[in-house]
Amino acid sequence: YGDPSQKIDYVFKVVLIGDSAVGKSQILARFARNEFSLDSKATIGVEFQTRTLVIEHKSVKAQIWDTAGQERYRAVTSAYYRGAVGAMLVYDITKRQSFDHIPRWLEELRSHADKNIVIIMIGNKTDLEDQRAVPTEDAKEFAQKEGLFFLETSALEATNVENAFLTVLTEIF
Ligand code: GTP
Ligand code: MG
Repeated sequence: YGDPSQKIDYVFKVVLIGDSAVGKSQILARFARNEFSLDSKATIGVEFQTRTLVIEHKSVKAQIWDTAGQERYRAVTSAYYRGAVGAMLVYDITKRQSFDHIPRWLEELRSHADKNIVIIMIGNKTDLEDQRAVPTEDAKEFAQKEGLFFLETSALEATNVENAFLTVLTEIF
């Protein structure tokens, strides 16, 4: 997970957004430390973690910001989005409401972030396929209409998490 002695060519800020409990913090824990916890606490305020990777022979430091999905725990929105070049819009495939709220998150993102920001929508918790409430096709269609990248992930099983970050980071590049 990155050699700390290497020189950094780029630092890319990526923000995570979406309803509370969709798994934003665990997606980040999986990407940054290859860790996962089932008793993850709700995020309060803003946290960030970094991981340095090599993309197209350049070392890229990904600085991933994570905030609370719960309104009362959220920090100042404009500061959160400032300088972000990528965004991950996360919902939970077992919670229809978290998908129905995506347009609101997208609106917030588009009103605060740079207009060229690279956005990926993520349907998390594919390990709970038997509880699925959001068909993949519905999400795909929405993503296509809005011009977003789209992937389904499982932070628990480590499915597609790396892929999701690489999709954003490579596109920013
Ligand atoms: P806020 O910080 O309140 O906005 O929530 P969050 O989006 O950061 O959610 P968090 O990562 O804390 O995860 C919420 C719950 O979902 C925790 O119990 C996690 O263990 C669980 N969880 C996260 N990702 C997955 C996953 O891929 N599969 C399953 N089964 N559970 C997950
Ligand atoms: Mg969190």
